[in-house]
Amino acid sequence: MFTKFRLEMLNREAASPENKPKEIIKSLNIQKNDKVGDIGSGGGYYTLKFAKEVGEEGMVYAIDTKQEYLTFIMGKIKKKGLKNIKTLLVNKDGFSIPEKVDLFFVRNVFHHLPAPEDYFKNIKRYLKNDGRIAIIEHKRRKYSFTGIFGHFTPKDVLIDKMGKAGFKPVDRLDFLPDQYFIIFKMK
Ligand SMILES: C[S@@+](CC[C@H](N)C(=O)[O-])C[C@H]1O[C@@H](n2cnc3c(N)ncnc32)[C@H](O)[C@@H]1O
Repeated sequence: MFTKFRLEMLNREAASPENKPKEIIKSLNIQKNDKVGDIGSGGGYYTLKFAKEVGEEGMVYAIDTKQEYLTFIMGKIKKKGLKNIKTLLVNKDGFSIPEKVDLFFVRNVFHHLPAPEDYFKNIKRYLKNDGRIAIIEHKRRKYSFTGIFGHFTPKDVLIDKMGKAGFKPVDRLDFLPDQYFIIFKMK
């Protein structure tokens, strides 16, 4: 019951116009047939949006460490009769995935990763050569919930860790009020 409440809350937050979901999806420029990994898929708001973008021949992987979260998403997949989403229950340190993807999407998850540098080094082999990793992470705001509870990563720290993992920033999008949004590619 609490899980459902929490996930519906996460989805409402993701869908809220002030968090600019339409702009985020547009700027990702996902193509039909693309393969996308939604790392830390939570309530699946973006997983379901991406499924629409990639179309029937594409595939979206909802990747999370919590089975109950994936079960919640599976309920939505079943209800909508979607065939282009697979759920992956993973270990907090990394994962394996059946194929290489065009895009990994990581929204409000980076600060949860125990060793981000190793994490991204490990999953590099699942990214196509020209593939992208899109990371959205909270900015530090001292007196906010995210600031007080440490749900953020300073931007320079994140870029440094991604650099050490073998990725360079190729695009920095600055339309989000409380988060930064950076697209990385392999160096
Ligand atoms: C704040 S929620 C964000 C959910 C979603 N990305 C969104 O924007 O609505 C963080 C999610 O990351 C998941 N998570 C935490 N650590 C993880 C890890 N090491 N690997 C994959 N997912 C993880 C949590 O279970 C949770 O679903």
